[in-house]
Amino acid sequence: MPDALQTIDEVAARALAELAAVRSAEQLEQWRIRYLGSNGEVKNLMQLIKTAPPDQKKTVGQRANAVQDQIKTAFESRKTELAATQSAGKDALDVTEPGRAPIVGNRHILMKVADELTDLFARMGFSTAAGPEVEDEFHNFIALNIPEQHPARDPLDNFYLTPDDQSQIQNRKSQILLRTQTSTVQIRVMEKQKPPIRVVIPGRVYRPDTVDATHLFMFHQLEALVVDKNVTMVDLKSTIMQFVRAYFGSTAKIRFRPSFFPFTEPSAEVDVWFEDKQRWIELGGCGMVHPNVFAACKIDPEVYTGWAFGFGIERIAMRKYGIDDIRHFVENDLRFLKQF
Ligand code: DAH
Repeated sequence: MPDALQTIDEVAARALAELAAVRSAEQLEQWRIRYLGSNGEVKNLMQLIKTAPPDQKKTVGQRANAVQDQIKTAFESRKTELAATQSAGKDALDVTEPGRAPIVGNRHILMKVADELTDLFARMGFSTAAGPEVEDEFHNFIALNIPEQHPARDPLDNFYLTPDDQSQIQNRKSQILLRTQTSTVQIRVMEKQKPPIRVVIPGRVYRPDTVDATHLFMFHQLEALVVDKNVTMVDLKSTIMQFVRAYFGSTAKIRFRPSFFPFTEPSAEVDVWFEDKQRWIELGGCGMVHPNVFAACKIDPEVYTGWAFGFGIERIAMRKYGIDDIRHFVENDLRFLKQF
């Protein structure tokens, strides 16, 4: 029965030719249904076996099966080829496409301001120092002339810590706490270095304050300390004026208010004018180093005098960059952080 064999060969040739022309997964599927589907042309070839005369059945059957295998194999390899070219198409590099800029972080505004401040003071001859955030009572209070009964030592105003070694608690002098002021580092500097001293200390401090638009329980201060012979209050005021004009601009307004700090005598508070808020905001305190502080650091108060200040870095940054709420610094809102 040459007709049956011829039909098989024709279908095979057509199927393979069309398969070679297939260009997409969609066309391939149409091709599959047409030839290999349950009612497809290749399936129908099997019907030829039934209708073939008995002596031809074997030859027709063998040919039909061989063609079916060949076509299935061809289908699988075309499918693989097509998948490969399509994914290659996807990954292909289009050099004309504009690049995607990587998202790069930036330094936190407070760290930038701290650097700007230490740079500015470096130009005025100040070096930079640092000290520990976990402090003992000697450096946070005693050496700063804050006696045992002073309200500043109240547990409600300080974050006292419980040391691992319980025996230390017995000894009041060794109580430890998160420092409430960078003035602690004045002591650490004077313990190590003898006058002349001209240093600034940027650092983090902690106080159990209620958070609002101008207060955080963790914030930053810039401390300054100058110790030498014949240092006077005039040096203190003129240095602060110089700093304020250099940093905020020549029209910046500040005022000194008489105040009290145990570690300075006389003492003052410094306010800066916030034009946008139309009010004075306190930058921090300053004064002439108290003789008791020198004595605690074994510096002779009869020979040396000095001045110091401690300003809030957040307040300085707010004034400089027009930031209206101190909480922005710690909320990690990228819309805020990206601006600087
Ligand atoms: N330590 C004070 C505070 O945190 C600020 C201060 C006042 C620092 C006077 C000083 C100073 O160095 O002389 O409130």
